[in-house]
Parts: sequence; structure tokens; C-alpha cells
Amino acid sequence: MPVRRERPDPQHYIGSGKVAQLQAEVQAAEAGVVIFDVALSPAQQRNLERALGAWVLDRTALILEIFGQRAKSREGKLQVELAQLEHLSTRLVRGWTHLERQRGGLGKTGGPGEKQIELDRRMIASRVRLLRDRLKTLHRQRRTQRRARTRRDVYSVSLVGYTNAGKSTLFNALTRASSYAADQLFATLDTTSRRCFVAGDLEVVLSDTVGFIRGLPHQLVEAFKSTLEESVEADLLLHVVDAAAPNFDAQMAEVQRVLQEIGADRVPQLTVYNKIDAIERAPTVERDPYGRILAVSVSAMTGAGLDLLRAAMAECVRTSRAGASLPDFESAAASSA
Ligand code: GTP
Repeated sequence: MPVRRERPDPQHYIGSGKVAQLQAEVQAAEAGVVIFDVALSPAQQRNLERALGAWVLDRTALILEIFGQRAKSREGKLQVELAQLEHLSTRLVRGWTHLERQRGGLGKTGGPGEKQIELDRRMIASRVRLLRDRLKTLHRQRRTQRRARTRRDVYSVSLVGYTNAGKSTLFNALTRASSYAADQLFATLDTTSRRCFVAGDLEVVLSDTVGFIRGLPHQLVEAFKSTLEESVEADLLLHVVDAAAPNFDAQMAEVQRVLQEIGADRVPQLTVYNKIDAIERAPTVERDPYGRILAVSVSAMTGAGLDLLRAAMAECVRTSRAGASLPDFESAAASSA
């Protein structure tokens, strides 16, 4: 239901007329849940639940629900639980001040309700500390694993892109593995890595990552970014784009903005325009005036253009190896000075 207002109503976010309209719709549909695509304050959420007689989810809670269902690895699960507890604790704190004000009006202080909330807050705080410690340990372990891989000199490629661009489908097509792909947002929350042969016996390690979305609630940014850390250290990013999406350029810009934020904009990038079957285009390779590959158009679903993509990755590996074996002129000049 689209709503136009100059500013949100402090009580219900939407105006009283819309609340009444929504109430009727909820009753007619016998809806148990109403989802708001905005961030609601704890008071707004409570008031809406009371008025509508249904469970109210806001944008943050919904994304957390999806993250919770999708998290696969231990780290992903811990991160989601942490974000959920942090979301909950802000509600408790704010809920508590709200009750406190009411109590003040009655001329009383303290009370069993206050104690219970204080206990809940302490329990949440200690669980949050425990989760943070566990995540730190996991983070260290992952770093060591990554360093070991760097020593083995394996070229790593990360698939990044807007949610639903087709990363998991492409990952499966390239590695011929059956990781989860579905027409759902956030089908992947954790990084999955597999070997992928790109030419002859030339192989890379390919990693799938969580999809990007616009306006990710800020409480979720940390959980999201840490799932992307691997991308920052990749040798190459494949930026998968849903070429059939009407707003694909806005999605690309959003992905670039986040990559810049996490420092992954320094990693060489290859754009992969996916789903060309849906727009009836032929596979192509796009190069810059110096002959460097900029983009490849493919269909992860039909497999069209995947040979071009493999060849493009092989070319990137060879270019990077040739670059790495060139003499370092700057340090040579410095040592001879
Ligand atoms: P997130 O996990 O949300 O980030 O999504 P993703 O980028 O991993 O997308 P996924 O691979 O799950 O694909 C999303 C949807 O697009 C699925 O319904 C796929 O079947 C569909 N899809 C993927 N590649 C293609 C393609 O080349 N052509 C068409 N027509 N559909 C595709």
C-alpha cells in the first residue's frame, strides 16, 4: 500500500486514515503479519500491532528474519544472532524508558517490570559479549586460512553483485556444483569457495558472496561487511549484474559504493552482464582501448558465454602473473641511488 506523507506520524508512522484502511484490509485478508518497508520506532511498532491486531515487522526485522533463515556457516549464524540481539536490546532500552515515563506519571518508581527488563538487558549484554568474542576467534582463524592460501599462490576470484543478479547460479555453472540457488532474495549469506578450472589446468578459487541491497539498515552493515571481507583480499572481482533488470545501472552503482566503503574498489574488476537469454542478446566481450577486458555478457542459466568468461578469467590470471614477475623498477632505482 503506497503512502504519501510529508513526515512520518510519531504514533503509527502512517496517518490515522491509513491505519483504519489497513485495519479493514488486515481483517478482510485475515492477515497475521503486516510488513512495513521502513524502519519503525519501537513505539510505532507496538501501536501498530495494537491497532491492527497483527504481527508487525519493519524492514530491519524482516531482513534479519531472512538472514536468520539463510545463514549457513557458524560465523554467519553468530553474526545474525548478534544483530538480532542488538536490535532487540535497543527495543528493550527504549521500551523501558517509555514505561518509566508512565510510571513517573503515577508517582511510583521502580517495580518488578523494571527489574525484569534490567535482568533481560544484562543477559542480552553478556550474550552479545560472548558472541563478539567467538566471532573474533573465528575471524582470526579465517585470516590464517586465507594466508595459507595466499602462500600456495592460488588466484582467488570473488563473485559480488546485487541480490538476485544470479551469483549462485553462475557459481554453480562455473564450478558445476549444486550450491543453493533460488529465486529469493539473499539465497546466500555466507561465502562458499570452490575450485574452478578456467583454461587447461589453470585453476582459480571462486567464492560466492552475499547479495547487496540498497538502504541496508545500519545495524546490519557489520554482519554484511564481514561476510564480504574475503572479497577485499581477492585477486579479481566478478561483478555480476542482472542485465534484464530495469534498474540495473542503479544496482551497479550501489554495489560500487559498498565496495568502495569496504576498500574492495582497489581489486581488479570484471563486469559480468548476466541473464542475456532474458533480453535476447548474444554473448560478447567488451574491451577498453588498450585491449583490457572490461565486461563479458553471459547467461548463467543457459551457459551461453561461459566459455568467454573462463577465457577472460584465464587472461586476467596471466596478466596478473606477468605483472607480478616484472622487475620492481621503483625499488631497484631506490637501492641503486
Ligand atoms: P542472492 O543470493 O540473493 O544474492 O542472489 P544471487 O545473485 O545468488 O542469485 P541466484 O543465483 O539465486 O539467481 C536469482 C534468480 O535469477 C534465480 O531465479 C535464477 O534462476 C535466475 N537466474 C540466474 N541466472 C539467470 C540467467 O542467466 N537467466 C535467467 N533468465 N535467469 C537467471
